[in-house]
Amino acid sequence: MLIIYVQFKSLLSLFTILLCAIYHFLTLFPSYRGIINIASNGNVLPGSDVGPVPLVLDPSLQLLSRRQRRLIRQNPGILQSITRGLLSAIRECKWQFRNRRWNCPTGPGNQVFGKIINRGCRETAFVFAITSAGVTHSVARSCSEGSIESCSCDYRRRGPGGPDWHWGGCSDNIDFGRFIGKEFVDSSERGRDLKYMVNLHNNQAGRMTVMTEMRQECKCHGMSGSCSLRTCWMRLPPFRAVGDALKDRFDGASKVTYSNNGSNRGNSRSDLPHLEPENPSHAMPSSRDLVYFEKSPNFCSPSEKTGTPGTTGRICNSTSLGLDGCELLCCGRGYRSRAEKVTERCHCTFHWCCHVTCLNCTTTQIVHECL
Ligand SMILES: *[C@@H]1O[C@H](CO)[C@@H](O)[C@H](O)[C@H]1NC(C)=O
Ligand SMILES: *[C@@H]1O[C@H](CO)[C@@H](O)[C@H](O)[C@H]1NC(C)=O
Ligand SMILES: *[C@@H]1O[C@H](CO)[C@@H](O)[C@H](O)[C@H]1NC(C)=O
Repeated sequence: MLIIYVQFKSLLSLFTILLCAIYHFLTLFPSYRGIINIASNGNVLPGSDVGPVPLVLDPSLQLLSRRQRRLIRQNPGILQSITRGLLSAIRECKWQFRNRRWNCPTGPGNQVFGKIINRGCRETAFVFAITSAGVTHSVARSCSEGSIESCSCDYRRRGPGGPDWHWGGCSDNIDFGRFIGKEFVDSSERGRDLKYMVNLHNNQAGRMTVMTEMRQECKCHGMSGSCSLRTCWMRLPPFRAVGDALKDRFDGASKVTYSNNGSNRGNSRSDLPHLEPENPSHAMPSSRDLVYFEKSPNFCSPSEKTGTPGTTGRICNSTSLGLDGCELLCCGRGYRSRAEKVTERCHCTFHWCCHVTCLNCTTTQIVHECL
């Protein structure tokens, strides 16, 4: 009896924590109620890259938009999926930027992405896009895995697809992922200023990237594996592929300005507020391009404005001429070197069947650290 009570109670309180977390921060950011602010204000603590640790418990239960509240109620499992999406976005961001001055720092403490989300530079664009992509990806996958009660595989593709294959099996539910992504990641209000429109554009770029990176997977049928007939379905890309694609877009991001004067392009689209390349000779950014409006700082020293710690103490590569090289990473301040013992598994042998035994080898490596 007691055990049942405790389990029920802890489930209930986990759910309450998640709800409160979201409610709390939506009210803190009335003009931008996107998931990124939720992620950046102490609700989901990535710790040292381990599982979700929802933290904030606000005693006064405040409310999401009516629509978001209804979505949570109608789609049990969705908050857990959104949380997983945020965590994979954080991990991916750190991986993609591990060799750069800005290495997607999170923390200290409960700040997930920190103040960079209030800026308008390329790094901000990436953070918004990868977060949006993470939520979309996670929800689309949760649907086909059956962990959200209200959605399932995308079964809309049916029938023959080509001479020797037909649609079948379980396609990941990208439409549902995009729908939820939009409801929770974008604000529920219409934006008017440049920053707002840029953020929404980058959120959309994240979702579009997940969708366009989807790939077809097939299974062979037919006599003794002849593969004369195949069944195919659409599968989400590994999240790494999304990260890679968005990193490319980061490198080629467009600097944009806000235009609502309606006369410069002579079509009806220009009558609406929209984004334009700052340099008129550049092409309009596509829906998958990342956009920004502010030059990035150099991230060399600690900055209060961007909440970034600078590169002192970072490990650099003394032989690389690239961004991870000591010259660039340490911003010319120089570095100190020290010897570090590293223990690795080595001389591994495979035993039939089936295990591997290894020895421990300890080597000394020289580690360079920015001053
Ligand atoms: C409209 O905006 C563009 C770019 O911002 C500018 O070059 C142009 O002069 C503006 N036109 C009017 C009529 O204000
Ligand atoms: C350091 O950079 C060199 C040259 O780019 C590269 O070959 C090497 O693998 C790097 N070392 C580490 C530890 O990343
Ligand atoms: C290697 O190190 C690990 C962890 O320190 C230890 O558990 C293991 O027993 C060691 N293996 C050998 C062969 O010494």
